[in-house]
Amino acid sequence: MAFTGLRSVVLCLGLLALPALAADRSTASYLPAAAKKPTLLQILAAAAKPKPAHIAIAPVRKHRVRHASVAARKRKALHAAMARKPKPMQSEPMPSKTAQPTTVPVTPVAAENPLAPPTTVGAAVTPPAQLSEAELAAKGLELFNDASLSGGNKASCATCHFSTGHTNNKTYVGLDVVADGDPNGRNTPTLWGVGERAVFGWAGQAATLEDSIRGIIVNRMKGAEPSKESLAALVAYVRTLNYPKNWQVKDDGTPSADASAAVKRGYDLYVGDGGCGTCHQLPSFDKKSKDDIGTGGKFKVPTLHAAASTAPYFHDGRTASLRDAVKLMWEFYAKKMESRLPTEAELDDLTAYVGAL
Ligand code: HEC
Ligand code: HEC
Repeated sequence: MAFTGLRSVVLCLGLLALPALAADRSTASYLPAAAKKPTLLQILAAAAKPKPAHIAIAPVRKHRVRHASVAARKRKALHAAMARKPKPMQSEPMPSKTAQPTTVPVTPVAAENPLAPPTTVGAAVTPPAQLSEAELAAKGLELFNDASLSGGNKASCATCHFSTGHTNNKTYVGLDVVADGDPNGRNTPTLWGVGERAVFGWAGQAATLEDSIRGIIVNRMKGAEPSKESLAALVAYVRTLNYPKNWQVKDDGTPSADASAAVKRGYDLYVGDGGCGTCHQLPSFDKKSKDDIGTGGKFKVPTLHAAASTAPYFHDGRTASLRDAVKLMWEFYAKKMESRLPTEAELDDLTAYVGAL
């Protein structure tokens, strides 16, 4: 009981905006870094020591107040959720940027009613209130930067999916950086546009984003089994990550009218003699199927969006430059189709087009 209470305090500090999760038993991983002063360990250690009454008073009263406010918030959030139409979290399309959570301002309710009885706290019977996609995504962003998702607090998602979900351009086995080209290595893909992919992981081993992220937390990060709520929040967050637009290429993948001549020529090669468009299909530049292109097994056809900044290339990071990746691909295609090889100038043009995606 004392443990549950203490945990609630810690949670409250970190989760003033996240009432629905307070009832979750496995929420230690929700704690954003800022909430860890003092750390959970320190608090537990302090609690284990018997203390003179005058020292204990302040924290204990805080517990009660915070318990009460959690209860109040949970009720509010629940009412708000019930007033809304219930909707499934994951199958919902992302609301547009302008469709902000008009319905539920959950946060401000926080400390307003400290006198409400703390009856529901710790009972864990209240179903979590449903959050809008935007609220879920905000929670997901916190988790994305939270190293406690990993065993031993070694890494957060952002350690590898650097700067708003892009890639840190490194190749890993587990959490260890290995040399690019290591056959067991997997280079960090960008998460930009990840909501549009058909399958996940280099080998297309995960059918859904949930599966993909769960596998990464449990297997790669050696973290605890994530709660459904954590996964839903992370999925909602990564779905908000989009590609930066390039003015040289239109949404359908064709060059814009004022694109450079090299990009235009490159596009012709891409859909023509290079054969690229048969696998990296417009407009997503990927394909659901897997192919063996001679890189050591079957791998999914990855998207080429943002490829200019995702070096090194291929599942194991075997080529450092985009031009070398493009060359390797054309050589593979030419061999398979018994078609011609590119000139150096054609490689430059094709690289210009792929680099503009
Ligand atoms: C140690 C570095 C590292 C960390 C930490 C990490 N990832 Fe990744 N991520 C990778 C690598 C490497 C892959 C490719 C894995 C594979 O193909 O087997 C990947 C793949 C993915 C994919 C699939 C992308 C695609 O296009 O197929 C998603 C989604 C993802 N990570 C999300 C996350 C989230 C969310 C977290 C935090 C819970 C996280 N990653 C933590 C390195 C990392
Ligand atoms: C038969 C299908 C197929 C064709 C045709 C094909 N690719 Fe690929 N491409 C793949 C597969 C599969 C991978 C991933 C292989 C791996 O990771 O080992 C890949 C990977 C790549 C990559 C590395 C992407 C990254 O993020 O690391 C680039 C760049 C690329 N292809 C460009 C091209 C270009 C340019 C062409 C045309 C010259 C082309 N591809 C033709 C299937 C194809």
